[in-house]
Amino acid sequence: MATQQREQWGTRAGFLFAAIGSAVGLGNIWRFPYVAYENGGGAFLIPYLVALLTAGIPLLILEYTIGHRFRGSPPAAYRKLARPAEAIGWWQVLICFIISAYYAVIIAWALRFVGFSIGLQWGDDPEGFLFGDFLQVADAPGGFGSYVPGVLLPLLLVWAITLGVLALGVKKGIEWANRIFIPLLVVLFGILVVRALFLDGAALGLNALFSPDWSAITSGSVWVAAYGQIFFSLSVGFGIMVTYASYLRRRADLTGSALVAGFANSSFEILAGIGVFATLGFMALASGVPVDEVATSGIGLAFVAFPQIISEMPLGSLFGVLFFVSLVVAGLSSLLSLVQVVVSAVQDRTGMARVPTVLTVGGAVAVVSIVLFPTDQGLYILDVADHFINQYGIALAALVLVIVVAWVVRGLKPLQEHANTTSAVPVGAWWRITLGIITPLFLGWMMAQSLIGELTENYGDYATWFNTAVGWGVAIGSIVLGILISLVPWKKGTGAATDEPSAVEEGNR
Ligand code: ALA
Repeated sequence: MATQQREQWGTRAGFLFAAIGSAVGLGNIWRFPYVAYENGGGAFLIPYLVALLTAGIPLLILEYTIGHRFRGSPPAAYRKLARPAEAIGWWQVLICFIISAYYAVIIAWALRFVGFSIGLQWGDDPEGFLFGDFLQVADAPGGFGSYVPGVLLPLLLVWAITLGVLALGVKKGIEWANRIFIPLLVVLFGILVVRALFLDGAALGLNALFSPDWSAITSGSVWVAAYGQIFFSLSVGFGIMVTYASYLRRRADLTGSALVAGFANSSFEILAGIGVFATLGFMALASGVPVDEVATSGIGLAFVAFPQIISEMPLGSLFGVLFFVSLVVAGLSSLLSLVQVVVSAVQDRTGMARVPTVLTVGGAVAVVSIVLFPTDQGLYILDVADHFINQYGIALAALVLVIVVAWVVRGLKPLQEHANTTSAVPVGAWWRITLGIITPLFLGWMMAQSLIGELTENYGDYATWFNTAVGWGVAIGSIVLGILISLVPWKKGTGAATDEPSAVEEGNR
């Protein structure tokens, strides 16, 4: 009963490029290497692979199947599973809204650092340059001080590209952009890794990364880290894959695509680990310190340690350009997918055409991003929002979704049948067991662990009021607002093309 024909991917390869583009992002390049190193090095690969096989790939297949079966964004698709489940969809839409707002800012920093790499403009003190000259971070969180034009300008460019691509649509915009971005990323990052492997000290870094600490795999927190990494990195729990799969043709290989996307993402992640640690090994050797003193993650890795290393290596500027352009490209393809969830949900809900929806809704995300982040408070808000939305947004939404699908509406069997009617690789009972039992048990335990930690210790030494206002504000606010939006009745004639029986009705026939 949709008012307009749903858009479609041009080809299967186009969908795969987009799915891989969404998965491969900042999480692969700056998060994985350090998480792996911190949690047992080579031994981390065991919990990591278990998490990939018992949660990542099964959830990816679940999201693909729901999106393909109900041909809708998360709220429209979950609504067909069970009316109240629509709230989970809006919750994921709000999670994507929040993540998009700050994810764009990190891409904007990387874009600016492409320019800074030429001539090594961070000078002798990259840390002081980043936090002082460039971001102009306030001494403490609270109260708006100054606006930072150096961040604003690249941010405007990031949003112009993102909204421009989204306005062109699924096939001519997202698919086309990813067909360029992904091969470009593989080539750029490939050159960078090969260069890194030839640096003096590279072996030192790789030894540090891959020497297995077998005792780590008996530690609960290592398993929590592995599952957390798989979720963020594969883009599951955001509703992105539901949205992307809703644009597939009727005949689509859902399980095969999930396997290809899952393994492509992990391969890129391991490649990033090798590139980053080979480079850190060079730094450790050059400064005569052990690798653990130079190993760091996130902002510290990309915008402080790397500039330092780039300054010391021969042809450093070129290395810097390759690294920061790779971050921009990997980040943009993920940002497109995050904002598309919001756009698609509003289109399904209101029946509005694509371009006005991109301009209004995508524009709203851009405005929030532009108002909040290029300020002297931006880094604090980003850090806290990122921590809370990851811990209590993505993973919690995935937990609630699997419980609802597996135990409340008992939808796994009909969804399995749906996946198997169109896919080349059939899924067996293992899929229902992992999603129905292993994933909820593990995610539930993981959630309880991190909640206990959160309540006993303030995140990041920030004041309680700041963590409550920003952190719990986004985590709880997105749940409450998601429920409220789902209570507003839908107008007749809007919604995804789902005048078909629900999965459960069909399964019960
Ligand atoms: N999956 C995306 C990343 O790794 C969000 O950054």
